[in-house]
Amino acid sequence: MRVTISSIVDKKKKNEKITMLTAYDYSFASIVDSAGIDIILVGDSLANVILGMESTTEISLDEMINHSRAVVNGSARGLVVGDMPYCAYQEENSQPLKSAQRFVSEAGCQAVKLEWFDRAIEVTEEIIKSGIPVMGHIGFTPQTADKLGGSVVQGKDLDTAKTLIEQAVLLEKAGCFSIVLECVPWQIAKLITEKISIPTIGIGAGSYCDGQVLVLNDLLGLFRKFRPKFVRKYADVFDASVEAIKNFISDVENGAFPSADESFSVNEEEFSRFKDKLDV
Ligand code: KIV
Repeated sequence: MRVTISSIVDKKKKNEKITMLTAYDYSFASIVDSAGIDIILVGDSLANVILGMESTTEISLDEMINHSRAVVNGSARGLVVGDMPYCAYQEENSQPLKSAQRFVSEAGCQAVKLEWFDRAIEVTEEIIKSGIPVMGHIGFTPQTADKLGGSVVQGKDLDTAKTLIEQAVLLEKAGCFSIVLECVPWQIAKLITEKISIPTIGIGAGSYCDGQVLVLNDLLGLFRKFRPKFVRKYADVFDASVEAIKNFISDVENGAFPSADESFSVNEEEFSRFKDKLDV
């Protein structure tokens, strides 16, 4: 059985930490799920770490839906949250509710995540009213990074700290079941976490959040283009993969792969009966 929205909210009440990681395909979803993660986020960071795009705003709704379906197929336990791409709810003439419904009906997600923007509350309320749980996202919001005044860390002065606290309160009122705090000073993240009753999930927001999220490809050392300060690399899967592939290349080149055990064979008696009839 999958982790439920209410069990995530209960974790905060019980003072238990919530764990969340991204995944973008069947294989990695099954790895993350086997490890026992609470929430699997199909983040729009897919644009950067899987599709090699410069900005998350480039990714399409269809791409997000396809990858979300793969993640749902690869997991059985974790709560799967689909990240709404920019084009699905912030672009002019987008249809936020229809987009959110596709994450549930086509991909099988249990919830969606929306980054803060000027109509975040209106859109969040509309989606929640339809019965789809929403995770909010404040602080550094990559989809609208150009509007954040050039600084990645948000909430370092009175005005921006006040704004973050107001946004968190509004999202809780709108019915969100949790909020991602990205690149927020730990003191402000702590205040927000203490003020609201829904869980905060931090990324670059210090240890007082109710939970933590990282991009899986950062944690595994798979993504090398840039590495934010808040990333802890738990493995070097890039180097391990290069090593494995080098071994494959060398085994093929020197004839060590494949072995007889890794090959199919035909019964020798049978083969001798038809061998001469083969036109070779
Ligand atoms: O897209 C993503 O991976 C995210 C996380 C950084 C929270 O939104």
